[in-house]
Amino acid sequence: MGLRHAGAPAIMTVSNAPPSSRRGLHVITWGCQMNVYDSARMSDVLRPLGYQPVDLPDSADMIILNTCHIRDKAAEKVFSELGRLRKIKEARKENGEQTIIAVAGCVAQAEGQEILTRAPYVDIVLGPQTYHRLPEMVARAARAGGAVIDTEFPAEQKFDFLPDTAAPQTPGNYTAFLTIQEGCDKFCSFCVVPYTRGAESSRSVTSVLAEAKRMADSGVREICLLGQNVNAYHGEGPDGQVWTLARLAATLADIAGILRIRYMTSHPRDMDDSLITAHRDLPALMPFLHLPVQAGSDRILQAMNRGHTADDYRDIVRRLREVRPDLALSSDFIVGHPGETDEDFEATMQLVRDVRFALAYSFKYSQRPGTPAAGAPFQVPEDVKDTRLQALQALLREQQDAFNDTLVGQTIPVLFTGEGRKPGQITGRSPWLQPVHVSGPRHLIGQELPVRITERLTNSLGGILVEETVYA
Ligand code: 5AD
Ligand code: SF4
Repeated sequence: MGLRHAGAPAIMTVSNAPPSSRRGLHVITWGCQMNVYDSARMSDVLRPLGYQPVDLPDSADMIILNTCHIRDKAAEKVFSELGRLRKIKEARKENGEQTIIAVAGCVAQAEGQEILTRAPYVDIVLGPQTYHRLPEMVARAARAGGAVIDTEFPAEQKFDFLPDTAAPQTPGNYTAFLTIQEGCDKFCSFCVVPYTRGAESSRSVTSVLAEAKRMADSGVREICLLGQNVNAYHGEGPDGQVWTLARLAATLADIAGILRIRYMTSHPRDMDDSLITAHRDLPALMPFLHLPVQAGSDRILQAMNRGHTADDYRDIVRRLREVRPDLALSSDFIVGHPGETDEDFEATMQLVRDVRFALAYSFKYSQRPGTPAAGAPFQVPEDVKDTRLQALQALLREQQDAFNDTLVGQTIPVLFTGEGRKPGQITGRSPWLQPVHVSGPRHLIGQELPVRITERLTNSLGGILVEETVYA
């Protein structure tokens, strides 16, 4: 590709930058929690080069777009954002300032060369498996003055090369994401993940435990374990054995300071007995599970290559609720997968009525180039998808409100994570992830305390501290 940085002495020395030479880094993140985690890790690897976060791209020496390819128009969104950044880069150049633009994430993986062709002012294109090589790529981009592309699936695991930091992520210091598994071998008909994130791989137990301990030491009380197929976790343990997610969760629960553990996203096929029993035996495992089912018709589940039936899903939910009666479920749904008839869609509605979800995300099927469903016959017309999505979302909204209503009048543990929007308020999260607002002093932030829920708001709950007088 053309030389973008010819005559750019200001960044020639980037790899040897003394820590005092501060550079601005602006990261824009789309997509899932995994990308949020990855963005934080990319900032970590760039910190030793002098890069510090800045709020606006205008004052950034480096801008990273961390992209998502899961649904529609992802690439178009990236190109339109790049158009905006190009102007910023040109304006900065006129002031004698250089700007490195990097495109990371799943669009980079899927459309690497296309990005450099359509947006030749991009300096670095890197796939999700190569973030640990970012400093080297920054140096190379600066030295060679040309674009660097790295969308390999390297043999080494990036986790073994990323710096040791506890940098807890949003929304504050008391809850954090921790990626333990990546990639997917399931090849659902509609999904790009197996192509963009590559084969499934698990991080070693030792490295997960070390990161969790650092997080706990820095004040984190709730950890959400992340993975595209997190319950397929099979990391190598220090004993040389392969550990399951259940075993990992039990060990994490023993770390001093860790009160709560969550995991997402799970696949019904990997919901094994040990994990179901862990929900009975481990109080730290929160009674809220994101378990996407996608559809309720066996015909469509088969076309989706999901490897389970609607009744298999009902059965898993029944077993989970048997061992943990307060367990609530969240899910993902796709309407309008190729071949979906009115009858198939009604089966999805019936599954929703049977299971009852506390939360759900639902999407219209979107054709992803290169996936099996994209070329399948009987694509569903857009207006039919719209009608189905509306009906499904109305039902799911009803169920979400009904679930939240059941909490009104109950006393539940709330982990306080920050100040509320109104003065004198603090806010936290329930075991079922709803935000909970109460009147209370700031010094309670970071603690888990009983709250009596008094009202349901649109997407959150209001309550009062049970031992208010003690804390006031
Ligand atoms: N079209 C619509 N929704 C999709 N998802 C994944 N691929 C597609 C697609 N091609 C949804 C699934 C998945 C969630 C992360 O995104 O429901 O669980
Ligand atoms: Fe995509 Fe299916 Fe893998 Fe989930 S299980 S990441 S939907 S291929």
